[in-house]
Amino acid sequence: METEWKEVSTEAAVREAGVCAVYAGDRELALYSVKGAIYATDNRCTHGEARLSDGFLLDDEIECPLHQGRFNVRDGLPMCAPLFAPVRVFPVKVDLGRVFVLVPVHTEDVSAANVARAGCPGGCSAVVSP
Ligand code: FES
Repeated sequence: METEWKEVSTEAAVREAGVCAVYAGDRELALYSVKGAIYATDNRCTHGEARLSDGFLLDDEIECPLHQGRFNVRDGLPMCAPLFAPVRVFPVKVDLGRVFVLVPVHTEDVSAANVARAGCPGGCSAVVSP
């Protein structure tokens, strides 16, 4: 898969916000400032229609604002119910205070596809279909 670095923000802006939403092409991402490092994930929760950038960041975990599931922002792994599918993470680099994220050249939204493939073990109505 061909990828490219996209400039999405500044280091200062991400540090000030803690967590924020940005676009890399047509893909909406969430950026997180954690202990001097910046991490990026898809901004949509894998459990339902919620933006992770609207959630609560505590250390390296983002709590979804809808059902309070938590992802580790370093590797995207779900940390508790009702989450079971990881959120996609993206490499980040900072150059002269500018933040870049490595994304596929032709982006696609894989969050919904991941949820649809895995199904919801709890039968939650918040699960989305692609
Ligand atoms: S929508 Fe995020 S935990 Fe349910």
